[in-house]
Amino acid sequence: MAKTPSFTCNACGAVHNKWSGRCDACGEWNTIVEDTGLSAGPAKNSLGNARGKGMTLTDLSAKETPPPRTNSGLAELDRVLGGGLVPASALLVGGDPGIGKSTLLLQAASAFSRKGLKTIYVSGEEASAQVRMRAERLGLQDAPVQLASETNLRDILTTMEAEKPQLVIIDSIQTMWLDTIGSAPGSVSQVRAAAHELTSFAKRRGVSVVLVGHVTKDGQIAGPRVVEHMVDTVLYFEGERGHQFRILRAVKNRFGPADEIGVFEMTGRGLSEVTNPSALFLSERGKPTPGSAVFAGIEGTRPVLVELQALVAPTPHSQPRRAVVGWDGARLAMILAVLESRCGIPFAGLDVYLNVAGGMKISEPAADLAVAAALLSAREDSALPADTVVFGEISLSGALRPAPQTENRLKEAQKLGFNAAIVPKGGKPGGASGLSLTRLEDLTAFVGDIFGA
Ligand code: TYD
Ligand code: MG
Repeated sequence: MAKTPSFTCNACGAVHNKWSGRCDACGEWNTIVEDTGLSAGPAKNSLGNARGKGMTLTDLSAKETPPPRTNSGLAELDRVLGGGLVPASALLVGGDPGIGKSTLLLQAASAFSRKGLKTIYVSGEEASAQVRMRAERLGLQDAPVQLASETNLRDILTTMEAEKPQLVIIDSIQTMWLDTIGSAPGSVSQVRAAAHELTSFAKRRGVSVVLVGHVTKDGQIAGPRVVEHMVDTVLYFEGERGHQFRILRAVKNRFGPADEIGVFEMTGRGLSEVTNPSALFLSERGKPTPGSAVFAGIEGTRPVLVELQALVAPTPHSQPRRAVVGWDGARLAMILAVLESRCGIPFAGLDVYLNVAGGMKISEPAADLAVAAALLSAREDSALPADTVVFGEISLSGALRPAPQTENRLKEAQKLGFNAAIVPKGGKPGGASGLSLTRLEDLTAFVGDIFGA
């Protein structure tokens, strides 16, 4: 059968069956290009090669004990990986340009090479001498990592074939190009083809590959999104430019829990691990101010305390502003609606700003009650007690639902010197009895109890 041509939008990655000037999916102009094949040479007859052989699960378990994982010794990284690096796995590390991906991966490469993995770090962005300079700055110049500065994928695969490494880091996938594909490096077809070649090579030869991908703020142009489904593990490296904290978050992991985070701090000598993130996130907290609430959250397998900050002010505009950093805007709108219709506290005519301190991003519904506390405290201009943590989910009826792992959250709060917690009724506080607990049924009770409204 003749191959029907397909066309891909370089902006959003949508696949079309005919060319057009404008992509229907994202609305961009002149971004659609014809796809060319993934690799050179004539296509093999798919029926001629009967090497594939079926296996049962019991065959597998009897014959193949999985090779052991390697720990880098960077505990925060190992935890996010689900307990070390799995041999022959493919990883994607995405993040904004300049956030510290190259720094992290150079440190990881050195750590793994010191643990005996033969490691090659391929930079498509910097010359080997520059990578060396960075390594010197990080105090890693004596690590047995091989450095290469290369963007032609064929040369990289040839090197991998000859050197037989166990771990290859490609920094970044957007700079790689295959000579069989007409479009420019960084385009969707190049990124996809390069990622495909590298991940299938990795699986075939038992090499672990780490692909670095830049994410752009708006539409992830030809970015990691098109690669996510090809790899086993997707990690995002996030943080705010103005803050020194960096969070490595697993958003997909075939070999461990997703949503696990590792916390790092960017210093003059590279990234250092933060073993007690709660203390770090709360370190900038001053004396109690209206609009501030401490949320006891769970990130992956760990409790993490963060400060939520709200500001509520009369709006000069006809349409009040709702701005959120680090949380979900739709969820904020929901909390405001519940406060308004169930508790009779209007926010009309008021601008609302919500910020998660320290550049942290949270997605747990358990943050609802802490958000409501911060909003009310800001609106009433009355500070919450400084030694109190808050958590719990709010339902549309205004009822409070207990959060999972109540006991872990309370223990962490106790460890950090908090004396009280406001929580939904029904959670299992377990052994954290040192805290004085206010256990509430619904949001109206919360408003009455805490603010006397
Ligand atoms: P980099 O790893 O190059 O980011 P990415 O690969 O994600 O684009 O890190 C860039 C930033 O990190 C840069 O602004 C300088 C800062 N940095 C430090 O603060 N300390 C260091 O030791 C290093 C190597 C970088
Ligand atoms: Mg970089």
